[in-house]
Amino acid sequence: MSTKAKPAMNIIGITGTLGAGKGTVVEYLTAAPHNYLHYSARSLLNEIIAKRKLNPGRDSMRVVANEMRAAKGPAALILALFEKADKVGKNAIIESVRTEGEVIALRNIGKPFTLLAVDANQRTRYDRAIGRGSSTDKISFEKFCEQERVEMSSKKAHEQNLGRCMAIADAKIMNDGTVEDLRAQVDKILAKTTAKVLRTQNATTIATAEASAKLSDKLSNFTNSSALMIAHERALETVRPDSLLRDPWARLLAGDKGPKLSEDFGKKCTLFGFPGWPEFHKQWTVVRTKFIDDHLVSLLGSGSGPRQFVNLGAGLDTRVLRLPCFRELDRAFEVDMQAVNEPKREILDALSAPKQCPQELVTANLTVEGSLTSGLAKAGFDSRKATVFLAEGLIMYLGAAANPFLRELSTLAAPSSTLILNFLEHDGFSKSELTALLEGAGWQGLQCNQYGDKVLNYKRFKAGFKPSRAFSFVVCTKQ
Ligand SMILES: C[S@@+](CC[C@H](N)C(=O)[O-])C[C@H]1O[C@@H](n2cnc3c(N)ncnc32)[C@H](O)[C@@H]1O
Repeated sequence: MSTKAKPAMNIIGITGTLGAGKGTVVEYLTAAPHNYLHYSARSLLNEIIAKRKLNPGRDSMRVVANEMRAAKGPAALILALFEKADKVGKNAIIESVRTEGEVIALRNIGKPFTLLAVDANQRTRYDRAIGRGSSTDKISFEKFCEQERVEMSSKKAHEQNLGRCMAIADAKIMNDGTVEDLRAQVDKILAKTTAKVLRTQNATTIATAEASAKLSDKLSNFTNSSALMIAHERALETVRPDSLLRDPWARLLAGDKGPKLSEDFGKKCTLFGFPGWPEFHKQWTVVRTKFIDDHLVSLLGSGSGPRQFVNLGAGLDTRVLRLPCFRELDRAFEVDMQAVNEPKREILDALSAPKQCPQELVTANLTVEGSLTSGLAKAGFDSRKATVFLAEGLIMYLGAAANPFLRELSTLAAPSSTLILNFLEHDGFSKSELTALLEGAGWQGLQCNQYGDKVLNYKRFKAGFKPSRAFSFVVCTKQ
């Protein structure tokens, strides 16, 4: 991987209340000497509204934006703007950031990003909006306040929540004074962010490239280096226009080895019952990731689900960085072998990507009885709390230790815990024996699915093949 640093690019996202002066900040930043390029969600939405012949105005903008986010993910609009800006590669302003999901997505892209919030007194802002006289702004003060109330808060990450965006912004401007005051505040923030961009860009590029190379070197046997292959397959998905998931760190985590391992695995398609379909495993990785993500969102998203998460054989999984529902957790424990955890810790430090919840890397050898229990206990796991346990792409590596491992795990699981277990069914490892073991250990409501079933398909399973027992899941709850 090249350590050559690209020229630093500063990305400023703008959030803030209506009439606060976001436009004035944009005008100032796009003029000389700053010369930022401006990417506006408003222009993009207006184009769509005109095309669909909807009533122009803020109500339609909100409806269209929420539709796009519901269809293509919480940050669809803002990521489309970011991609345009990134292609050009010059300092950019993205306006305006309106949901928490968008803030997280922009912070997770792995490029220096500053969220700037602009605000002012409510009456002043109303007078400014009316004075401006745009068709979207000819409303009464009461309607203005009502619209603002709707836009200021929402519990869902993909709905407009300006209050939350402003609360988590990196810098805030109160624009109750003159234009000169406003410009002076912008200049101060710009000086700080430009210095930060140069510092972090250089340091991050070099440190992450070094950590990525080390990761590839240290993961030498297939048991461990399979994590590089999975990361690569998630990286491939991330750049597809119709992607089912976005893992912006995956390319770096896959290192130099991930692509070759994945290509070689594809050649085993006949062995796995998919002759002529070398993409079978790449698609399986995407399908299983999406299947698990959907389960986690439904288990944790409500805020009343389990508060601990244990990822067994976590490899280079990045859910703790990328899934906003993890904010509901007290802690996420990621269990793997020392060979994986050591370089993984280095790369996570180098990336310094914000985590959605506290993350503990737990070193354990899951073929050794008691290793999981003692590793988790040292890391602060509370066996009285309901927990989501995930074993994705793991138990096929445990051989004869798989059953004792499942029994040990079951004793750690408090009532109402959930287990999401991916397994490879074959003649020596049958579904009926596995389900009997789990039921005997107190798990109930077992739902079993195979790659290709309706719920484990996402239109990525090639037509003409039968669902495969080699790629199975069971999801169940502890009594
Ligand atoms: C195919 S990777 C899956 C990684 C991750 N779950 C994912 O889906 O991205 C398998 C992972 O299981 C881990 N693993 C295999 N045997 C293990 C053991 N005995 N103890 C701990 N981890 C193990 C490997 O180190 C590797 O990171």
